[in-house]
Amino acid sequence: MSRSFGLVVETDKCLQLYNSLGLSSVASHFCVASSIAKIQEALTYAKAKQLDIMPLGAGSNVVFASDLRCLAVCISILGIKESGSNGGTPNSVDVRFAAGENWDRAVRHCLSQGWYGLENLARIPGNVGASVIQNIGAYGVEISDRFISLSAVKIDTGEIIILNKDQCRFSYRESAFKQLLKDKFIITHVTLRLSRIPIINIDYPALTHYFADHQGEISSEMVYEAVSTIRQSKLPDPDVLPNVGSFFKNPVLSASTLAKIDSKDGRTKGQIPRFEQPQGCFKVPAGWLIEQLGLKGLRYGAAGIHAQQALVLVNYQNGKKDDCARDILALARYIQEKVLATFFIQLEIEPRIYGSV
Ligand code: FAD
Ligand code: EPU
Repeated sequence: MSRSFGLVVETDKCLQLYNSLGLSSVASHFCVASSIAKIQEALTYAKAKQLDIMPLGAGSNVVFASDLRCLAVCISILGIKESGSNGGTPNSVDVRFAAGENWDRAVRHCLSQGWYGLENLARIPGNVGASVIQNIGAYGVEISDRFISLSAVKIDTGEIIILNKDQCRFSYRESAFKQLLKDKFIITHVTLRLSRIPIINIDYPALTHYFADHQGEISSEMVYEAVSTIRQSKLPDPDVLPNVGSFFKNPVLSASTLAKIDSKDGRTKGQIPRFEQPQGCFKVPAGWLIEQLGLKGLRYGAAGIHAQQALVLVNYQNGKKDDCARDILALARYIQEKVLATFFIQLEIEPRIYGSV
């Protein structure tokens, strides 16, 4: 452990408690940054030691494939506050969230304040900072639907900047932070525009089904509970069975690509489910494709395909230092090959992979 100004930097830090897959990779350097000043100190430290920076939230969307030479910076800035409604309506409220806030805690806090619009994103693991990296989405809502702006520190200069929605280039499980702006910024605060009037959105099939027999009004709190219940019925709790949620994105295909696949696909004969998206595209549920191949519940070494949700890969050997990452990635490759060979669709891995096996 060493100190540089007020920053405490640990060396050879095991990351097992810092990722929801429970992988026991070691970061050569590690620190916790609870303020913008601490982030800037960390950047100076990394520059002096010629280390790459790896920002970390709750580690629920990362795969550590090997030990890492880097400065892992655990972003733990806290705070949620109303930030005035510039450009909103009398019924809207702009709320500024610090990057280290736990996402679900933030959603519940907003509900308790009468700030609505995040209920469909209930119970998504992780922190606010990372929520914009992949534009978190669930049950018919994406964070980009509520997004106004973010503050970030530039990794190369330490300068603080503000980015608006256009600059973040959000789309399904995508943002500029996974493309052009990859590894360039540490997000410190996110501002969302919420509503003082409940926004009830139960169009997602599982939610519509949940409320099918319900008589009377549906409140935001009820939507939060419904989403929580549906999620608990299919997604494994990482504390019990380590995982990173969906391991693959749902492929978004053009109508013509899908038509070609339908004509070649002798197995399901044009029965692949599809959900219409903007610009004439269709989202195909990757979990369905994997399930059709009979792979649900398959185990490979330490890794497995979850029995209730084929998109989720789990680590059955949490707590042991072994080759879990190698098994997880080998299983992912096997799934990709099978899906490609049968359905002519290339599945894209969703979590960020650091290091290599
Ligand atoms: P981390 O895993 O710590 O980091 C993810 C990436 O963001 C890394 O590349 C990291 O370097 C970068 N990063 C983190 N913080 C910052 C920062 N402040 N500035 C810059 N870069 C940063 N996702 C969904 O979209 N919808 C779901 O329904 C969903 N369900 C899930 C269910 C389960 C059981 C699990 C385990 C995961 C699920 N996820 C889901 C994925 C995950 O919860 C999200 O991607 C979440 O936003 C990750 O947050 P995190 O803080 O854990 O990020
Ligand atoms: N399906 C199957 N078999 C499976 C899984 C799904 O046939 O094993 C079918 C379902 O029957 C349904 C369709 O696929 O018809 C969609 O399933 P579901 O509603 O469970 O959603 P998903 O597409 O599997 C996506 C997100 C989840 C998010 C849910 C709810 C991606 C990659 N995943 O899953 O996000 O919570 O929708 O909106 O988009 C995550 O990103 O980690 C994650 C969990």
